[in-house]
Amino acid sequence: MAQDVITQAPLGFGLGLRTQHFDAVLNTEPDIDWFEVLSENYMVAGGKPRYYLKEIGERYPLVMHGVSLSIGSTDPLNMDYLKALKQLANDVQPQWISDHICWTSIHGVNSHDLLPLPYTEETVKHVAQRIKTVQDFLGRRILMENVSSYLSYQDSSMDEWEFVNAVAEAADCLILLDINNIYVSARNHNFNPLDYLNKINPKRVQQFHLAGHSDYGDYVIDTHDHDVPSCVWDLYCAALKRFGGISTMIERDANIPEFYALEAELTIARNIARDTLGKAHPLNAAKNRKNMHEGKVIA
Ligand SMILES: [Fe+2]
Repeated sequence: MAQDVITQAPLGFGLGLRTQHFDAVLNTEPDIDWFEVLSENYMVAGGKPRYYLKEIGERYPLVMHGVSLSIGSTDPLNMDYLKALKQLANDVQPQWISDHICWTSIHGVNSHDLLPLPYTEETVKHVAQRIKTVQDFLGRRILMENVSSYLSYQDSSMDEWEFVNAVAEAADCLILLDINNIYVSARNHNFNPLDYLNKINPKRVQQFHLAGHSDYGDYVIDTHDHDVPSCVWDLYCAALKRFGGISTMIERDANIPEFYALEAELTIARNIARDTLGKAHPLNAAKNRKNMHEGKVIA
């Protein structure tokens, strides 16, 4: 049986590391607590990406985020991918590893999309068993993220939040809660995002994602190409109240601005967390950046 507290202490406020910002990060060593790196971008040993990863990893804590587990697929788990993921984790020594509660491929064909699953007991069992296999192989708990969606299945017999909780409990994994994805799905499926937040099991939430989206009025697309909008900031504030100080990061995958613009967005997150939780909260007091001279984490 899992212990009461199974999550790690908060890392503070991070950003997704993007190739456009490699030099800015190395040259200016900005005051960012940690970076999330896309696992698939670094699976080939050597070369420029791995050079930057090593250099930046010596200065900042890193977490690894993947998009290729396809945990909900009925294809066998891709052991070549898992071996490469484990090797990368051995090299990077990330604080944690995450992927998505979705399926991306079937019959060996990759859609390159994070597709939603039917929310049924059968799917819970299937996904949880595969997460357990992955965790056993990697030798650690992983974080699984809620995806945004634009369709639902007639077969679904539970709400998405019930499904996420059930998967996390059955697999004994952790949850990466994407606040923007909750907002996007709430708009597309006409539910109250606060209902989602209020039903997710706080015990298993270890990380938040924040991002922007494209709002077309009747529907919303999770494009990650805009600043975080006020509706997502409002939901972030509610999430902090519900879950406490959770490691927070901003994802920007397209229309990527200069690094200073993302730093400014992260300052908004810091200010909201400080105003919501108080200055002394471990999230706000987190100082995880590695001391490059002494090679240790600053307490
Ligand atoms: Fe996300």
